[in-house]
Amino acid sequence: MRTIHCLNAISKYGLGFLTEDYKLTDDVNEAEGILVRSASLHEMEFSDSLLAVARAGAGVNNIPLEDCAKSGIVVFNTPGANANGVKELVLAGLMLASRDIIGGIAWCQENKDDENISKTVEKSKKAFAGGEVKGKKLGVIGLGAIGAEVANAAAALGMEVYGYDPYISVNAAWMLSRDVKHITSVDTIYQECDFISIHVPLMDSTRGMINQETFAKMKDGVVVLNFARDLLVNDDDMAAALASGKVKKYVSDFPNPKVVKMPNAIVIPHLGASTEESEDNCAKMAVMELMDYLENGNIRNSVNYPACDMGVCKTESRVAVMHLNVPNMIGQVTGMMASCGINISDMTNKSREKYAYTLMDLDKQPDEETIKKLRGIDGILRVRVIK
Ligand SMILES: NC(=O)c1ccc[n+]([C@@H]2O[C@H](COP(=O)([O-])OP(=O)(O)OC[C@H]3O[C@@H](n4cnc5c(N)ncnc54)[C@H](O)[C@@H]3O)[C@@H](O)[C@H]2O)c1
Repeated sequence: MRTIHCLNAISKYGLGFLTEDYKLTDDVNEAEGILVRSASLHEMEFSDSLLAVARAGAGVNNIPLEDCAKSGIVVFNTPGANANGVKELVLAGLMLASRDIIGGIAWCQENKDDENISKTVEKSKKAFAGGEVKGKKLGVIGLGAIGAEVANAAAALGMEVYGYDPYISVNAAWMLSRDVKHITSVDTIYQECDFISIHVPLMDSTRGMINQETFAKMKDGVVVLNFARDLLVNDDDMAAALASGKVKKYVSDFPNPKVVKMPNAIVIPHLGASTEESEDNCAKMAVMELMDYLENGNIRNSVNYPACDMGVCKTESRVAVMHLNVPNMIGQVTGMMASCGINISDMTNKSREKYAYTLMDLDKQPDEETIKKLRGIDGILRVRVIK
């Protein structure tokens, strides 16, 4: 029986994918796998039994990735599992920015005691009128899981969609509707688009990417939507662009003390992925990744170890070796197997920065002594006999 500890409440739907070979435990020290959402693992001491941590969500800054890697603990996340949830809120943001729906709703509330509201509304409503998104140009910067969904949905609404992503993955490119124009210079988006939606990760190269300089290239009255990270936008420059009318509306999913005070900013309390379905999708994906790793040693969507997939083991034994990515590790591991008379029938070795992973299907079970010798090789962090 394998044991899993949930550090946060994980959706029942997701946990329902655990087979009868698994039990949930309250004792984190006996768990082979941890499922977590936002709880911090930074102060936690990891027990030797812990093999993997799966975060139901995309961000992993609550997990000490390097310490985990050093201890041979694989950390997984669930990229793309919340993409539809975020996409739907971006579409809501597009609509909220196009017409003054928020002002209109506030007007109805302010006039709720007016017995003649059904008549007065006809005179007052013009203050809240706006435009339609159909036929307008939307620029999507970053065509990953979320950006590609936003681009496709906006194209389906009749928008003219420009997409920019110099590092687009093959999967995302396949997902993209043929109606989305692939743009090779982000300046084209700044110069041409009525709406600009950012979907890139926060990195040194993207921090503050929307700033005074980029506003200068944009059309007057542009709408900027930010459902990625607040620090992608320079807040002081945005406040000035809103004040001058350069930017008509700034829709942000990230309240901070500056943004919430900006007139014409529509600020949402980080609701992008806050849907039941997103939580279910993330939990299911985290559970599936964890089970495939514990049962087969396969690694999918790890943030500290390389991807590796050898399917289900069909030979007598499968052994996983986690080691430093330094010369002669494979030679030593395979040499050890050969010296013990064990034939390797299939093998994969993958590396990721400082760490590497070797998965071997063997024709016979290695004995305790062989495993002990493997563990003794300098640079080997963990050896796991999976079957
Ligand atoms: N609002 C929310 O609740 C919420 C929820 C999930 C994710 N997010 C944010 O959305 C971002 C995107 O999420 P995702 O799941 O689509 O990620 P993803 O990794 O699938 O996609 C990111 C894309 O950005 C591209 N990219 C990187 N640098 C770029 C650049 N300089 N110019 C153009 N493209 C660039 C990458 O090639 C990749 O295709 C995340 O980084 C996260 O910060 C927000």
